[in-house]
Amino acid sequence: MASDRYIDFVNSDLGRKLVGAVGLPAPARLERWQAGRLRPVEGALLLSTGPLAERVSNFAPRLTDVLLSAGGEVTGAHPWTAEQSAKIKAVVFDASALLRTSELSQLREFFQPILRHLDNSAHVVILARAPDAQTDPLAASTQQAIEGFSRSLAKEMRNGGTVQLLQVEDGAEDQLEGALRFFLSPKSAFISGQVVRLSACGQQVQDWTRPLAGRKALVTGAARGIGAAIAETLARDGAEVVLLDVPQAKSDLDALAARLGGQALVLDICAPDAAAQLIEHLPGGLDIVVHNAGITRDKTLANMPADFWDSVLDVNLNAPQVLTQALIDSGVLRENGSVILLASISGLAGNRGQTNYTTSKAGLIGYARAMAPTLKARGISINAVAPGFIETSMTAHMPFALREAGRRMSSLGQGGQPQDVAEAVAWLGQPGSGAMSGQVLRVCGQSVLGA
Ligand SMILES: NC(=O)c1ccc[n+]([C@@H]2O[C@H](COP(=O)([O-])OP(=O)(O)OC[C@H]3O[C@@H](n4cnc5c(N)ncnc54)[C@H](O)[C@@H]3O)[C@@H](O)[C@H]2O)c1
Repeated sequence: MASDRYIDFVNSDLGRKLVGAVGLPAPARLERWQAGRLRPVEGALLLSTGPLAERVSNFAPRLTDVLLSAGGEVTGAHPWTAEQSAKIKAVVFDASALLRTSELSQLREFFQPILRHLDNSAHVVILARAPDAQTDPLAASTQQAIEGFSRSLAKEMRNGGTVQLLQVEDGAEDQLEGALRFFLSPKSAFISGQVVRLSACGQQVQDWTRPLAGRKALVTGAARGIGAAIAETLARDGAEVVLLDVPQAKSDLDALAARLGGQALVLDICAPDAAAQLIEHLPGGLDIVVHNAGITRDKTLANMPADFWDSVLDVNLNAPQVLTQALIDSGVLRENGSVILLASISGLAGNRGQTNYTTSKAGLIGYARAMAPTLKARGISINAVAPGFIETSMTAHMPFALREAGRRMSSLGQGGQPQDVAEAVAWLGQPGSGAMSGQVLRVCGQSVLGA
């Protein structure tokens, strides 16, 4: 894996001076979740007033030891003051009651005073309503306006700070704790500028220290890279893991499966009998399917051989479709399960030399959107995770200039780690993840590509 020496340099004493003088980008060292940590927010959580914020105040003491309020009284919180309060590690602003253009000034009034008092790697979440669920056009316009605000604020954050917008449908308030435990903590270190919609969902995590306890997960392409990180993170969170990869990867796969106390399954997902073999090896059923196995065979379209096209479409798109359908039809995928598809931001943006790859990744996004309504009746969620530039052996082999561009062309100014993608997958695999379905979660540091 390529190491990002530039981050080490800009965070050294000499680097800081030089970078400041020349005006180069200064990516921060991002704080990440360590196994064994309990509190989602280690530091002060600042909460606004509002109907959804009121719900948050009920469970906020489970998120942090230091609860502060701004803009009015919040149960259990001390009022924030610039002079006396500690630096702010996390912020929740409830914008759900803003229904008129004139009320949008509350965004500026709330955020402006606090921005210079944010700690490193601070996480901001704005709570709102889905614009298309508003019957009043002015209310819909106001709620849509908040999206523009949150995406821009994400671009203005410094020192590794992130901003997300959660659109909470009526009845989805119960799912706020799970979502905030993810978006206010270092688990979402490399996610910023995203809009996520939460719908009502009957499921709930029972034990936040092991949110995936009792769930069985299959991860394809698990021998290395992002897939290995996913298997590791799901196991950390209590899931029983089945790791799948091709015969050539058997020794790495066996070693990882043994370390995680999981099961190794050597299988080519494109084999004609792949679905039958999978079903045979999963007699007890499955709760989480992560379609991570993926390949690239890059060439401009003018030079693309048929086998480059076919193999990429086969592995990346056809196999996930065939296997998902088989797992559903056979009943192996249990009720309230989660299907997670590894897409890519290039599937949203397009990429020169990757017509085959981007076609496959966009196809996965379409598949998640189209399947979500059908699977809802059984409580199964299906989402795509779209990584941006992630530091893996795949990106280590890119030409230097492309690799540097990939790293810096994002609000966080760096590549992500496989763990960043894995944390997003683990969150989507939790009971209650059905609150989010048919959506794309980008893990890209707010890359400018496909934004
Ligand atoms: N690395 C990035 O920056 C990045 C960015 C966006 C999306 N992604 C996506 O994330 C996923 C993982 O990427 P990675 O960088 O870890 O890739 P990787 O090449 O390091 O790992 C992919 C794994 O999939 C396995 N695999 C390939 N074909 C298979 C098949 N037919 N059957 C079973 N297993 C198979 C490989 O053996 C390998 O272990 C891929 O879907 C990739 O497209 C990666």
